[in-house]
Amino acid sequence: MKPRVFVTRPLSEAALELLSSTCEVRSFPKDAAIPVSQLAEECREVEGILVSSARVDEEVLLAAPRLRAISNCGVGYDNIDVEACNRRRIPVTNAAGSLEETTADLAFTLLLAAARRAIEADRYVREGRWDRWQWGLMHGLDVHHKTLGLLGFGGIGRPMARRGLGFSMRVLYHARHRADVSIEREFHAEYADLKTLLRESDFLSLHVPLTPQTRHIINGKALGLMKDTAVLVNTARGPVVDEEALVEALTNRRIAGAGLDVFEQEPRLHPNLTGLANVVLAPHIGSATGETRVRMATLAVRNLLAMLAGERPANIVNPEIYS
Ligand code: DGY
Repeated sequence: MKPRVFVTRPLSEAALELLSSTCEVRSFPKDAAIPVSQLAEECREVEGILVSSARVDEEVLLAAPRLRAISNCGVGYDNIDVEACNRRRIPVTNAAGSLEETTADLAFTLLLAAARRAIEADRYVREGRWDRWQWGLMHGLDVHHKTLGLLGFGGIGRPMARRGLGFSMRVLYHARHRADVSIEREFHAEYADLKTLLRESDFLSLHVPLTPQTRHIINGKALGLMKDTAVLVNTARGPVVDEEALVEALTNRRIAGAGLDVFEQEPRLHPNLTGLANVVLAPHIGSATGETRVRMATLAVRNLLAMLAGERPANIVNPEIYS
């Protein structure tokens, strides 16, 4: 009998076909987060779940006695209660390796757009307000030869460093674990403590997972240490930044600007965010290119199939269940 699996949103067709070749597949038909109670209901008989930004918590696990594999179709897996999975010895995988370059592309896009006021400029021209060349029109910030600060220096932080090097930037990073000297050399990246990173970065880009340690790591105090010419870029997770404090810092020009792809209560925004000209906003599209979506879904399917076949998958995030 084919194992039953549930897919939490309609993903790329080719990947779902691959899954259907060996599994009995049911999918949530909407491109939206399935409510937890509905997910729990859907998972009563399943052995595997392919998750895309749905919450998988104790309620879902309790409802799913046969569950033995969870494949997350994204690199961040804060939507999954991994501790609860560990208690049940359920392997969990992510899609690391499929989307990092693409997300770094968007992070750098936000950085450039905020620095050079690209969205404001576009609006200005479209609205027919441009009547002559002006010396003083829309001065932005130079990016080249500035200091790019990276909070987090993993799968997305490193490609971001490479983009910075292409703009002749000095690259500083802070991470929980300092990288090997060979990696630092490869990326021409200097390790800094968090305070130094905050003080010296002209552009600070966030690439940490959301954990209890990183929640609100960028708070009022951290923003207070940044240069008043600095730009913050967040393509990681919204709650890494205290959004209330950020809105205050942007309003008072404590920092110069921000480029945000993720938000504390997304898709809800802080009410004062949309009124600010010095922030560029995007709807959590870090990995949203056609090619990368196919890569993510295919990898997530392969991880799920490996787990269902009893193999140890390449992208395991809770290897401790095997010890
Ligand atoms: C990720 O991979 O974590 C993206 O944010 C999609 O959820």
